[in-house]
Amino acid sequence: MNRPRKVHVKSFGCQMNVYDSHRMADTLAPEGYVETQLPAEADLIILNTCHIREKAVDKVYSEIGRMRELKDQAEREGRRMLIAVAGCVAQAEGEEIVRRTDSVDVVVGSQNYHKLPALIARARDGEKIVDTEFPLEDKFDALAQPSPQAIAKRGISSFVTVQEGCDKFCTFCVVPYTRGAEISRPVAKVLADVERLAANGVREISLIGQNVNAYHGVDANGDAVTLGALMRRIAKVPGIARLRYMTSHPRDMLSPVCDDLIAAHGDLPELMPYVHLPVQAGSDRVLAAMNRKHTRKEYMTAITRLKNARPDIAFTSDFIVGFPGETEEDFRETLALAEEVNFATAYTFMYSARPGTPAAKLEDQVPDAEKYERLQRLQDLITRQWRAFNGSFAGKSMEILLEKPGKLTGQLVGRSPYLQSVHVMAKPSLIGQIVPVSITDIGTNTLFAELANATRGPALASLGA
Ligand code: SAH
Ligand code: SF4
Ligand code: F3S
Repeated sequence: MNRPRKVHVKSFGCQMNVYDSHRMADTLAPEGYVETQLPAEADLIILNTCHIREKAVDKVYSEIGRMRELKDQAEREGRRMLIAVAGCVAQAEGEEIVRRTDSVDVVVGSQNYHKLPALIARARDGEKIVDTEFPLEDKFDALAQPSPQAIAKRGISSFVTVQEGCDKFCTFCVVPYTRGAEISRPVAKVLADVERLAANGVREISLIGQNVNAYHGVDANGDAVTLGALMRRIAKVPGIARLRYMTSHPRDMLSPVCDDLIAAHGDLPELMPYVHLPVQAGSDRVLAAMNRKHTRKEYMTAITRLKNARPDIAFTSDFIVGFPGETEEDFRETLALAEEVNFATAYTFMYSARPGTPAAKLEDQVPDAEKYERLQRLQDLITRQWRAFNGSFAGKSMEILLEKPGKLTGQLVGRSPYLQSVHVMAKPSLIGQIVPVSITDIGTNTLFAELANATRGPALASLGA
């Protein structure tokens, strides 16, 4: 019998990229591929790439260089190693990748992962493969499901793609080109995925999509279902204790499609009070130039509506500084918006001109030094907000979902509703449980807690404390 082949998959991108990496590994498993964390021992290396900023793309090419050394080493040892480039760089650059480097055997775009076994087989026969078509069939139908072992290994929290692609065409962004048109997966298929995950120990589901709150998958009657309604159905799946979703677009949040999602924040306890709502910029002029199709005031309305439904919601966001034409005054409006919302945390990026996007052709590009200076100022503010947010939990009680053992003996790591990691001394059998804790200490990137049961004795409990 042949020895099992080993595949090493490395993700460079967003949550959807990570999810896709899992699905690629799942699809190769029936072909006899076992996952390895060590690229040097792999028969197949898949680099799952991101095209969102220039830096992300540079990383891919330097990684291809490193993998090439491993490939040469394997060859010297008489082993054949294949290198595949998947993901958004593969989709955007296609042929260009095999032109730039002869070490890559397969280039597979984001909508063709279900074809991987066939593509790999052809590459084994010596063919160079580039497949970046947008096929007509549904890749989700053809991708293999994860085995119970794979699910267990990935932990108790899982992503599920419910919506993919984007028709919004923000002027800075490559996603509409790398992921294609927006599609929503049918309700029954999403539910089947969730049921399978839950049956194998998953307790928390994060629904993902580039515009996840625009979800409009159909139910058995062919009627479109909103994200809020989908959440309500998923919450009923036995075992599912927590729900999250990302990434939402502010414009959809304002449309009637999201009324039920907002209401769900008020009445669905499984839905966590932590919402990622990228705003990008605070100035209406810049928002218009970005084609975000909402104003600063409308963004604030979306925030207010969510907070009215559930006052303890905390928000996170994405910001781009130095979009073409952004003045100091525009940038100050970004700072003012961040002050007003008071984010739990945020991702901050310097604008990166992407080939083929309208903004890359604009004349008034902001010099790098200015972008950098603005980035520092915004990051300082966000860091202050993030510290204050974490600090606000000192001495407070909260429920955490215990995920895995910690570094110290007897310690477990869990997640707060706000995705903070929380360290607590607790027995391993509690992994997968939601437990009440009180926060004793605030670390740099983590909170420390005690199990509430241990701190509140029976006498106190009987007093109703
Ligand atoms: N669909 C999501 C965002 C997907 S991309 C949304 O609409 O909000 C993730 C983040 O990368 C974006 O929110 C944006 O902040 C950042 N980004 C996208 N293109 C960029 C570019 N050209 N330069 C810098 N940051 C960019
Ligand atoms: Fe990109 Fe805009 Fe679509 Fe988000 S909504 S993926 S930023 S084009
Ligand atoms: Fe990057 Fe593609 Fe995700 S460009 S951010 S991996 S959708």
